[in-house]
Amino acid sequence: MRRRCFAVVPAAGRGRRMGSEIPKQYLNLAGKPVLQHTLERLLAVPDLEIIVVALAADDRRWHELPLARHPRIRVTEGGAERADSVLAGLECLEGAATAADWVMVHDAARPCLRPADAEKLLHTLAEDEVGGILALPSVDTLKEVTDGVVRQTVARHRIWRALTPQLFRYRLLRRSLEQALARGMPVTDESSAVELAGFRPKIVEGSPDNIKITRPEDLPLARFILERS
Ligand code: C5P
Repeated sequence: MRRRCFAVVPAAGRGRRMGSEIPKQYLNLAGKPVLQHTLERLLAVPDLEIIVVALAADDRRWHELPLARHPRIRVTEGGAERADSVLAGLECLEGAATAADWVMVHDAARPCLRPADAEKLLHTLAEDEVGGILALPSVDTLKEVTDGVVRQTVARHRIWRALTPQLFRYRLLRRSLEQALARGMPVTDESSAVELAGFRPKIVEGSPDNIKITRPEDLPLARFILERS
């Protein structure tokens, strides 16, 4: 049976590391807010039926976005941490998504996602019972450091960097996030909650240009990537 696919976009962060008054999802990138680029890229994935955007309670900028009233987009109020915002997005899909339907979670701050990579994730995992994530093998040699001193070199061939989108079955993801938050565990991505619940998410190789806007120098890099794609 073919499962339906939904998306949740956590966009309720402040982005303090950007050092800007404006939250990073609303910063101007090549003439449009970062969030507009991100949503355009997700809308280019035809399988995604509904895209839920989790916004900060005091968000005043969403309504100015050209996509604010798009028929495939819904909004909900996010929470204190990224995982709370994702959970709010999942709750918003209650009634629309059934237990085994797919939910693709993608950071608002990753505007350079290639729609083809999101489709690759969906197609690679289509028959999987859990789900998985886009990730990149580490290219640098990695060091474990304490107090500014190298303790050891980490075996690089086993290290991957987790990106988004991350794709999981609806009920499994919702329960995993609820359990992790109830236990007070740190949850920086969906995969970590699913791992804590005892599952093994799959890895699908993504693209290095799917960067997350985090620091001011990331904006010109994102502009360069978007102009080339
Ligand atoms: O701060 P960071 O880059 O890790 O945030 C990743 C994504 O999570 C961003 O799109 C941000 O808007 C979102 N977020 C959220 N709710 C929070 C914190 C972050 O939706 N409370």
